[in-house]
Amino acid sequence: MDRYKRVAQLRTVEDFRTYLDTLGVSLPFDETVTAGPDAPLAQPIAYGVRAIGNRFSVLPMEGWDGTHDGRPTELTARRWQHFGASGAKLIWGGEAVAVRHDGRANPRQLMINADTWPELAGLREQLVAEHATRYTRTDDLLIGLQLTHSGRFARPDPDNKLKPSILYPHPLLNHKFGFPDDYPVLGDDDIRRLIDDFIVAARLARQAGFDFVDLKHCHGYLGHEFLSAVDRGGRYGGAFENRTRFLRELVDGIRAEVPGLDIGVRLSAFDWAPFKPGADGTGEMEAVNGGYRYAFGGDSSGHGIDLSETFAFLDLLHSLDIRLICITAGSPYYNPHIQRPALFPPSDGYQPPEDPLAGVARQIEAVAALKAHRPELIFVGSGYSYLQEWLPNVAQHVVRAGMADSIGLGRLILSYPEVAADILTGQPLARKRICRTFSDCTTAPRNGIVSGCYPLDDFYKGREEAARLKAAKERTK
Ligand SMILES: Cc1cc2nc3c(=O)[nH]c(=O)nc-3n(C[C@H](O)[C@H](O)[C@H](O)COP(=O)(O)O)c2cc1C
Ligand code: SF4
Repeated sequence: MDRYKRVAQLRTVEDFRTYLDTLGVSLPFDETVTAGPDAPLAQPIAYGVRAIGNRFSVLPMEGWDGTHDGRPTELTARRWQHFGASGAKLIWGGEAVAVRHDGRANPRQLMINADTWPELAGLREQLVAEHATRYTRTDDLLIGLQLTHSGRFARPDPDNKLKPSILYPHPLLNHKFGFPDDYPVLGDDDIRRLIDDFIVAARLARQAGFDFVDLKHCHGYLGHEFLSAVDRGGRYGGAFENRTRFLRELVDGIRAEVPGLDIGVRLSAFDWAPFKPGADGTGEMEAVNGGYRYAFGGDSSGHGIDLSETFAFLDLLHSLDIRLICITAGSPYYNPHIQRPALFPPSDGYQPPEDPLAGVARQIEAVAALKAHRPELIFVGSGYSYLQEWLPNVAQHVVRAGMADSIGLGRLILSYPEVAADILTGQPLARKRICRTFSDCTTAPRNGIVSGCYPLDDFYKGREEAARLKAAKERTK
């Protein structure tokens, strides 16, 4: 992808600034980064009676490596230990955990139920133990569990077939993912039963020792689909009040049945229409004849942002006394470039239609607008991994300027788990371990292979799955 300069080539402040100017991308950054206890990124965040020890969060990342009955494996445990080793003090969700079988995004996704919860408790304990070994203090570590139903993108069974649960027939997504326009939608009673399953899952998460549950509302999964259910009738569709009823009923139920458990929400703050590869492989938006109505936080063009409903959603979270918000965008299935900016697309993606730095800047700008709207909420931002060598400079600026409270780290944690600690202590970054957004951690699960950083993590390089991944990439070239 020679169209865009590699970030690793932007070696000086001048190089970085000039390149951003050439792109017309506004991405503020600090020229120098401070380390040590007084550094902006080392400052705690006040949270109720406790503090979150610094300004880094680990974002949730599934590994496609649980058992078929939803339990973690050694691979899962290794990843959670790495989360603990990162030095980040907020663990946002660990990874998506399905509240029941039909809500799994893949046949190896974790599930929380009466049988599996002790093993999820074990994952948390291993994370805490690793953190304690390296950093001693753990009273300032806040750990959540992400609860989800994968809705339209559910593939729960070993046959790996899509078995969607949908809220409305989407004029583009039904077709794109190969199911008919008249595919049945969940009824209001089905939704009520699902809410009960979420409440049971929240109780088990509490039992497993988690500080909070994230009621996932992002990436095109079911929670997120409610927000765009403008065409649905009944109690859960149409007006904003109905589209947010799922969230309100979840919160009411959890507050009543699991007192003392905190709640957070990971939200796709804006969405766009689906993209597909164009004639030369570059992503282009699918035709949205007459405008697009299904992008929560988006405008009717299908590729613009209108945060007015997102602001209203934050007002609702505030009124529900929810303070922990993690912001992301779009969906990894139909517009990955706005969700996880990358130079190299996953096997089911497309060449980036913009410099990925533009995608990073878009998410940062949106979070800053949301933080300005509701400064009393704690905002975690996402999509920073593409910044590579420049991540510490941008992160410090964002936190110092109050544009977000915490910097979420996703892919970079897979390639370089201790990165937050290195930034905080002023170690030069280990350049060979910096994620270069090769997307193998997404391509692998798309091809039924466990996820991991195959290019940079020796542990995965040496596994038999590495050869299978290579073959899968050859096939989809
Ligand atoms: C392999 C992989 C698995 C992911 N799994 C989840 C998940 O379980 N839940 C979630 O909310 N986001 C998930 N994400 C999205 C990340 O949390 C994050 O938003 C995204 O990678 C962008 O951040 P980054 O630029 O730091 O990677 C996943 C991303 C990757 C690469
Ligand atoms: S496979 Fe490794 S280098 Fe590639 S995007 Fe994932 S974490 Fe980054």
